[in-house]
Amino acid sequence: MIHNALRTRMILTLIVSLGLTGCAEVAYERLNDPSRDTWQKPQGVIETLSIAPGSRVADLGAGGGYFTWHLAKAVGPRGTVYAVDINKAALDMIFKEMVARGTPNVRPVRATPNDPRLPEPVDLVFSCNTYHQMIDRDVYFRSLASSLRPGGRVAILDFEPRGFFSGMFGNRIAKEDVRLEMEAAGYRLVDDHQLIDQQHFQIFEAADS
Ligand SMILES: C[S@@+](CC[C@H](N)C(=O)[O-])C[C@H]1O[C@@H](n2cnc3c(N)ncnc32)[C@H](O)[C@@H]1O
Repeated sequence: MIHNALRTRMILTLIVSLGLTGCAEVAYERLNDPSRDTWQKPQGVIETLSIAPGSRVADLGAGGGYFTWHLAKAVGPRGTVYAVDINKAALDMIFKEMVARGTPNVRPVRATPNDPRLPEPVDLVFSCNTYHQMIDRDVYFRSLASSLRPGGRVAILDFEPRGFFSGMFGNRIAKEDVRLEMEAAGYRLVDDHQLIDQQHFQIFEAADS
């Protein structure tokens, strides 16, 4: 119950704050609140992904970097995490934290809504609570396949439309819709994890790989 209340508060704060100029940092700080770990299970998510040291990973819609630092630890010093976001405030926060933590294996990337602008192909595109916000997803993910290295994966973690605020703000998407859209964009589902209450966590590969 407490977890649900925290989650709802987090979503509402994000929506309101991102809608107000200059308040994005507040929303990202909220997303980075350590209390989120209780239900978001970042360690479990990272373990589930089995990321090889030295991998190149894109954190698509990195926000304030909640998952970025976990990913950076998983890829290790020889790997790279591209923290991709369209929001400058998000990337500024990540850059500051990067300097504070001394993590040279993280690189902030300013994306556009239609292009992640990745400087090189990656082994894994990880995206948490972002897919539902993206526009023209069919075209986007079809094109993203060219940014995957051989055997590359796309991991999508997002909220299932359930409960009182179900889809009210377009802030959730059904697991089945993600799968159907990704298949239409040229991917196949390779894993479907039941790790987090109220969130689906699906892993895709390019269908022709
Ligand atoms: C709800 S936040 C999630 C942030 C982070 N992944 C987390 O779980 O804390 C969604 C983020 O996706 C970003 N975003 C939305 N559309 C995007 C796109 N097309 N490309 C990159 N980032 C995008 C937003 O700017 C926002 O920072």
